[in-house]
Amino acid sequence: MKKLFAALLAVALTVSLFAGCAKKGYRTVDEIKSSGEIVLLTNAMFEPYEYIAGGKVVGADIDLAQLVADELGVKLKILDMDFDGLVDALASGKGDFIAAGMANNPERAKVVDFSIEYVHNSLHIIIPADSTIAGVDDLAGKRIAVQEGTTSDDFVRGSVPDASVLAFKDAVVAGNAVSDGRADACILDLKPAEGVAANSNGKLIVLDEVVGEEELMSMAAGKGNQGLVDIINSVLRKAIDNGTVDERVQYHMDATTGG
Ligand code: ARG
Repeated sequence: MKKLFAALLAVALTVSLFAGCAKKGYRTVDEIKSSGEIVLLTNAMFEPYEYIAGGKVVGADIDLAQLVADELGVKLKILDMDFDGLVDALASGKGDFIAAGMANNPERAKVVDFSIEYVHNSLHIIIPADSTIAGVDDLAGKRIAVQEGTTSDDFVRGSVPDASVLAFKDAVVAGNAVSDGRADACILDLKPAEGVAANSNGKLIVLDEVVGEEELMSMAAGKGNQGLVDIINSVLRKAIDNGTVDERVQYHMDATTGG
């Protein structure tokens, strides 16, 4: 038994030594600085956090990401892609960080390193104003719209019996599937859900009930890129404390709901 243990230990040590030598999958803060730009990965289909306006990617997350770029003294370059590709894209070095209304969860934390949380978020049900659905328990067997690859998507597939899942690339399009009758309900993050309802001419409402666990929204950097995580954390800490985070979210809520 002792011998087996010793052998296993030797293997484990060798593996971790090699892992230490393996090429890191991220750019250090110094490498980012000398290149003159930091590359943000996002999915601009998630108002008010990131969306397209006037042909540009804008939103609360983009404003916060810009503060990170400013802190480093570099330009912000934005790569817009499908939400479900973001974590792998970061892990394979296609960008330096993610800001995408992303929940900091253990599954994703295996692949990327998360910053502190900057928004307390929760998932909610959007239904037609005259729907008989009153909460999660009424969703079984229903047609439910979600944004593909998100925690809402996971929740419906994992926790709602017999649901037919309608997965859309765009959160707003998922919400609108309820108003045009293709779906009985949609599960979406709070602010995006409120935005969809506000733009529905009274057709849709958002239930107060929190679906699943509360979520903590964080930015993410490459696994092991502590230098960049530290900078993101200090920028976010300041933006939380001085009200910038709340102000930017409200600004983009108003901009997308005509409020
Ligand atoms: N909070 C949810 C998640 O982390 C949805 C985020 C969607 N964000 C986006 N930019 N499309 O899965």
